[in-house]
Amino acid sequence: MTSAAASALSPADTSAAVAALRAALGSDVILLPQEFAGRKNADWSRMPCAEPVALARPRSTEQVARIMAICHAHRLPVVTQGGLTGLTGGACLHGGELALSLELMNGIESIDTVSGTMTVLAGTPLETVQVAADAAGFLFPLDLGARGSCTIGGNLATNAGGNRVIKYGMMREQALDIEAVLADGSIIGGTHGMIKNNTGYDLRNLLIGSEGTLGVITRAVLRLRPKPRAVSTAFCGLPDYQAVTTLLSRAQAMLPAGVSAFEVMWPGYHDFVTSRMPELRAPLAGRHAYYVLLESSGADPARQAEAFEAFLGEQLEDGVLDDAALAATESDALAFWAIRDAPGEYPRFIPGRVSFDVSFAIADVGLAAQRCEAALREKWPQATILIYGHLGDGNLHIVVHEPDWPASAARAVQDVVYGITGEMHGSVSAEHGIGSKKLRVLGLTRTPADLAAMRAIKLALDPLWLLNPGKVLV
Ligand code: FAD
Ligand code: LAC
Ligand code: ZN
Repeated sequence: MTSAAASALSPADTSAAVAALRAALGSDVILLPQEFAGRKNADWSRMPCAEPVALARPRSTEQVARIMAICHAHRLPVVTQGGLTGLTGGACLHGGELALSLELMNGIESIDTVSGTMTVLAGTPLETVQVAADAAGFLFPLDLGARGSCTIGGNLATNAGGNRVIKYGMMREQALDIEAVLADGSIIGGTHGMIKNNTGYDLRNLLIGSEGTLGVITRAVLRLRPKPRAVSTAFCGLPDYQAVTTLLSRAQAMLPAGVSAFEVMWPGYHDFVTSRMPELRAPLAGRHAYYVLLESSGADPARQAEAFEAFLGEQLEDGVLDDAALAATESDALAFWAIRDAPGEYPRFIPGRVSFDVSFAIADVGLAAQRCEAALREKWPQATILIYGHLGDGNLHIVVHEPDWPASAARAVQDVVYGITGEMHGSVSAEHGIGSKKLRVLGLTRTPADLAAMRAIKLALDPLWLLNPGKVLV
């Protein structure tokens, strides 16, 4: 099958398209390159990013619709940008595109405390939503290290995962409806707050995880959850991988409030971040084969704390745990989470890192990590290898770094990790998406028939291939 990627417009056609946009929307919405010089344009993937031919900063869905209709008429490709915290180059431009930033479509429109929903504009930062939900007596459960900068639109477009998927699911589970503008400027969805709605194809779920290739998400009706009245947190040291999976299954079966986070850190990661970042304090004395941040959150403060502590005691007695530190205060819990959130500081310590976001069946994760580490170590004995992840979801992050690596090393490192991922029937992207970074390995996880169906959907909704060309599918 031939690639349907948008063909580049001539400079004259591009200028005509930008002029039409500026005439229709005005110079405060459509900015020319000299008017946004120096603006951050790259995401966190460190992939090469071209400058946009113009920057659109709409303030309303209607403006987005007019922008898309004009781009469609002129065949100008469009890359939607949220908070630019993505890790796969999804919001990066390849050259010749309009950048459409949702930064001015930022705000909470309403909270319905009876239905437990919040309607927000897509450019609203995740943390703003979390804080507003908390103030209204609810929880918005999606949480990830980039919470201060990433946007709800970006979270939806990448179907973000993060730290509490084990209890609440991914971003897909947090949205009841989304409004989006399609490539031709038509506006779909965004009006209902129903939990059940079996009225034909689920367009919301088609757009969630589509990484800006099927539509521009402009508004969402989010689902809020009851705010936990008790949160118990422990930082645990374990002797082996079997103990990790035993702890997970026992915690799920035995803790009255279940498990709201089960984050695992291999010792290389734990030792690296606690030694490089003086603001972090290792909660446990001694070295352990695995570290787990275990969190349980529920509605019964008195019984929950007691049950959590008793559970940890039993696991220590049984030898499932070598050691455990129980958070006595919220600030203890935050200090534990700071160790898990350390990847936000990678640019300070390991700027040239190669990172992965893979997943496996939970039973296979220990072996997958072991195989990847051994194969990497064999080729690059001096490399820093950091392994950690959302183990309750089978999701591993692997970060590999060697000072002074040539840019070409990244591909060789990827070949090792993705080779093992393919062999073990894992996923090349658990939560960060494909963007352009993982295009070449998508076929390790998706079949040719899957890819053909995806391409058919893309062609039906965006036949001119104008939305985020060169991402997810080519
Ligand atoms: P951007 O980076 O701006 O865009 C990402 C993609 O979404 C692009 O393809 C873009 O075109 C598209 N897009 C953005 N907005 C829209 C819109 N309104 N409509 C249509 N398409 C749109 N991710 C996880 O899943 N789990 C984690 O635990 C996690 N931890 C992170 C920790 C750190 C320190 C960092 C830097 C990133 C982390 N991420 C994580 C990745 C990232 O934060 C998420 O992918 C986030 O959802 C991206 O949101 P954004 O607004 O920054 O999107
Ligand atoms: C994390 C990001 C990298 O979990 O997904 O830290
Ligand atoms: Zn993650």
